[in-house]
Amino acid sequence: MADDKWANPQKMWDERFAQAEPVYGEQPNAYLCAQSLRLTPGCKILVPGDGYGRNGLWLARQGFQVSTVDLSPVGVERAHKSAQAAGLAMSIEEADLATWTWPVAEFDAVASIFLHLPPDIRAQIHAQMLAAVKPGGLLIIEAFTPAQLQHSSGGPRQLDLLCTADILREDFRPAEALELLEVEIDLDEGRLHRGRAAVVHGVFRRQ
Ligand SMILES: C[S@@+](CC[C@H](N)C(=O)[O-])C[C@H]1O[C@@H](n2cnc3c(N)ncnc32)[C@H](O)[C@@H]1O
Repeated sequence: MADDKWANPQKMWDERFAQAEPVYGEQPNAYLCAQSLRLTPGCKILVPGDGYGRNGLWLARQGFQVSTVDLSPVGVERAHKSAQAAGLAMSIEEADLATWTWPVAEFDAVASIFLHLPPDIRAQIHAQMLAAVKPGGLLIIEAFTPAQLQHSSGGPRQLDLLCTADILREDFRPAEALELLEVEIDLDEGRLHRGRAAVVHGVFRRQ
């Protein structure tokens, strides 16, 4: 069954990010933190769909050169303010990834965290995400799977917005999957991402 909120995604994200509380917390995503150990210090990372910037800000604090892109003007404004307050130099852009001019072979890594896209644009955006990575670079992704519909720890309540390992393998072909698995985790990332959760974890190397 379709979840009505997703009919106007920008409005939905703006309303969420307008709340004073950081709904996904201030801390970065745990999977991204763990996988960042694979990255060369100071390398160039693109974070598409970074919301109010919790992951991009953390990566910038670690010394990476960070670019983020998000659909939500409210999220982007909030990320700008946080970066400014912290004295972090990073690129924070407001755009719809479906129409954005994606760079090609420009980043050492792309990190897509809980960016759930409708099926009509998902494969295209995933292909552009991979193409934005330099040959030999990495694409790191975490997303909810259909098994998440049994949990109440966040994510879309709409089957076709959820991701599987098979979908990612297909979308990111011919990249090499260094890690690709569907797992149950205990999520603790703000009020909207808390509790037992079913996710897919992926790290792909562009050929
Ligand atoms: C669940 S939130 C996750 C935010 C962030 N990745 C995090 O983990 O805190 C999904 C984000 O994807 C963004 N998003 C969804 N569709 C998008 C699109 N077509 N273009 C750009 N951003 C999009 C939303 O604005 C929102 O910030």
